[in-house]
Amino acid sequence: MNPKVDSLMSEDEGIVLFRPYVSPTAAMSVAKTLSTRWIGQGPQVEEFERQFSTRLAGDLPCAATNSGTSALHLAMLLAGIGPGDEVITTIFTCTATNMPVLYCGATPVFADIQPTTLNIDPVSVRAKLTEKTKAIVCVPYGGLPCDMDELRQIADEAEIPLIQDAAHAMGAQYHGVSIVKHATYSMFSFQAIKHFTTGDGGMLVLPDHHQIEDAKLLRWFGIDRSAKQKGIWENDITRVGYKYQMTDIAATMGLAALGDWDTIWQHRRKLLALYELEFDGIDTVEFVGGGFDDRTHAAWLCTVLVDDRVGCQAMLRSKGIEATQVHYRNDRYSIMGGRRDDMPGMDSVDDKYLVLPMHMQVTEDDVYRITDALRTGW
Ligand SMILES: Cc1ncc(COP(=O)(O)O)c(C=O)c1O
Repeated sequence: MNPKVDSLMSEDEGIVLFRPYVSPTAAMSVAKTLSTRWIGQGPQVEEFERQFSTRLAGDLPCAATNSGTSALHLAMLLAGIGPGDEVITTIFTCTATNMPVLYCGATPVFADIQPTTLNIDPVSVRAKLTEKTKAIVCVPYGGLPCDMDELRQIADEAEIPLIQDAAHAMGAQYHGVSIVKHATYSMFSFQAIKHFTTGDGGMLVLPDHHQIEDAKLLRWFGIDRSAKQKGIWENDITRVGYKYQMTDIAATMGLAALGDWDTIWQHRRKLLALYELEFDGIDTVEFVGGGFDDRTHAAWLCTVLVDDRVGCQAMLRSKGIEATQVHYRNDRYSIMGGRRDDMPGMDSVDDKYLVLPMHMQVTEDDVYRITDALRTGW
């Protein structure tokens, strides 16, 4: 690997790949929270859950956590996943999608991806079903919703839950409604470089109120927090719980960012649409995930397929543009069971996919600069 593309670029050098979005009002709001009685889990967390549910989770019950990974682990616990179970999941994602499968003592069974979307391929999912399959996990890669009708049908036929790792997909829709409506459980992430950040944080979205109390118990040591706050200390703890709760500091940042949601959404969607338009006229670059009218892309990543990826990255870097792979096929890791041979979709894009800068400080002029650089070749 060329050392020039193998190191992080500083903002002085040009257009960086990612940059956190923190609302301009967050610092003031956090200062206010810091002066109150609650800085750990308190009223701000409840308010953030309420507003997030209304704004971005189709009014479904939400439980805020200290990370997206924690939220996903909670979803898998609620789904009853345990030792000896198999979970069919995408091969192409952040390791955080599949680590919670291992936390549960279960086995990740990788399904292949569609080369045109990089999302899990329902045909491959169906082929991997066994009697041990306890859930299907899908990831709307980059923000493009998966084939939810097909996945839902497979999950329903097998009578297992469909868990959606929507870390990339805040705001995404399928058939005109939030993607959370098409899964059993969904999770969002507020890690540093997501649509907006709470420093670190996550949100678990449930299909109904049936398991929300369970989710909250598991989130905090198995203790009924509201009963404890009334001063009743004789609560029993009957199951293993975790320390997965969000803090009021983080929730305050989240609430501030929700106030900016329209701006975030419009900016990202505008950049992605411009990229797609520009790539239409560049034969050497294939835009990933365009051309759908049944789903709305959340515009978290702009991913393209190119030949000679390292050469392309080096050319972009020489022009002050940072581009990387971001995620890697998960079967490269020994802990995930090592390399699988039956992944033609993944194999066909493995040397080609590349992620281009898209965040709140990237401008339309930056997109023209990046697409012009690609147009001239490498
Ligand atoms: C697809 C995916 N899933 C899960 C996560 C984990 O989220 P968190 O960092 O909030 O735990 C990330 C990234 O952080 C991700 O990209």
